[in-house]
Amino acid sequence: MLLALVPGTNRAGSLSLKLARQVAADYAALGCQVDLLELNLGPEFLDPMAYKAPKPAVTALVQRFLACDAAVFVIPEYNGSYPGILKLFVDMLPEREGFAQRPCAFIGLSAGQFSSLRSVEHFQGVAGYRNAYIFPTRVFIGDSFKRFAADGTLIEPLFVERLKAQAAGFVAFVRALKPTT
Ligand SMILES: Cc1cc2nc3c(=O)[nH]c(=O)nc-3n(C[C@H](O)[C@H](O)[C@H](O)COP(=O)(O)O)c2cc1C
Repeated sequence: MLLALVPGTNRAGSLSLKLARQVAADYAALGCQVDLLELNLGPEFLDPMAYKAPKPAVTALVQRFLACDAAVFVIPEYNGSYPGILKLFVDMLPEREGFAQRPCAFIGLSAGQFSSLRSVEHFQGVAGYRNAYIFPTRVFIGDSFKRFAADGTLIEPLFVERLKAQAAGFVAFVRALKPTT
């Protein structure tokens, strides 16, 4: 099984990227191959022609996503929703193959007390609209700046366990939907 693991921001020093690396290790321990898809999108993505005639950098990132059997999104809360860069990436995906029948799992991360619930639900709305198979168990982490050690490791055992349980459940979900993976 090949998983796309998408940290939903390109912010320098982002905790979502650190969390995504840790989650990637959880999936690797379960025998999955993981493609960590960093959204370090260049000016090619802001090109008005990118929708119709994408430049190679856009196509390359999109193809990496499409090659995966399933996707896990780490979604930070930005202004009560998910970051614009994540929407920009979604808007570059081809209309049907992008999400259609693609199993997707979601992890929310925020500095504040709402633990990215709104961001995840906004993003789930988009994935659902595009016919993703949505894994119902989500993980929400608030107070992000208190949750990581200096080396970028998530330190709260409760969340570490929730993420591992989500990963095990999601792998079973993907295999049930796609028995050949
Ligand atoms: C542009 C921007 C907007 C943000 N808006 C919110 C917000 O509405 N609520 C919140 O709890 N945290 C907000 N944050 C803080 C992030 O949720 C926090 O940095 C968290 O660690 C996840 O984002 P990160 O991956 O960029 O670190 C915001 C951060 C940025 C950069």
